[in-house]
Amino acid sequence: MKITITDTEPQFFDRVAWRVAVEIADKPEAVIGFSTGRTTKGIHASLADIHKKYPFDTSGMTVFGLDEITNVSREYFGSCYYILLHEVVEPLGVPMENYLMPPVHSDDFTRECQDYQAAISVRGPVALQILGIGENGHIGFNQPGTPFNSYAWLSKMDEELDRRIRRETGSAPDAPLGGLTLGIRNIMYSKKIILAANGVRKAQIIRDALYGPVTEELPASVLQLHPDCEVILDAEAARLL
Ligand code: GLP
Repeated sequence: MKITITDTEPQFFDRVAWRVAVEIADKPEAVIGFSTGRTTKGIHASLADIHKKYPFDTSGMTVFGLDEITNVSREYFGSCYYILLHEVVEPLGVPMENYLMPPVHSDDFTRECQDYQAAISVRGPVALQILGIGENGHIGFNQPGTPFNSYAWLSKMDEELDRRIRRETGSAPDAPLGGLTLGIRNIMYSKKIILAANGVRKAQIIRDALYGPVTEELPASVLQLHPDCEVILDAEAARLL
């Protein structure tokens, strides 16, 4: 694993964004996986700025999302579809037919998971997957305990996010919310991975994920086994290394 540490948070956002920009500029037909969250929001803003200042061709690239919340509307500002559309696809001018996301509604999510990973793989190998990390070590919606050999699947929403989404969307208390996510195996098939983390609240889990045992109890620890994974951190997230 290569570890890059920046002094400040703005430098952190820029560093990750430049990695992504260079990847796209080098391979205009690259298939790139994006994630949502507070970490990637700043990265996406910086990527949009870079693209504005130094335009590069995005007409042949494919953007796909690592995960999605199920049983909410795509118009809900917290859906991953909405976030990536507004943070990445529109600012970079990526053609809509090159934007892949799993559906939010279905009567057969098992089939949707298979269709989604198949739709990504026909585009070609994933050149780069950008990941955030949860404070319990989750990647995507792969929570602790997820088998390392998992493919795309529908996980149970974690309680905190469940409560927040219900508050924001007014979803009925009995409407089941889920987290459709690419599995650990899909993630590990990416040619290149960037794990990005900032802020002191990520410091402990970053130390455990990078230097602790590789275990299904800490999903991000599997990245120690990936041949081309770069971990980009700001000084706060790196303070226990
Ligand atoms: C969510 C997403 C993950 C993301 C994580 C970290 O659970 N499903 O893909 O990496 O949150 O979010 P944040 O960057 O807001 O800490």
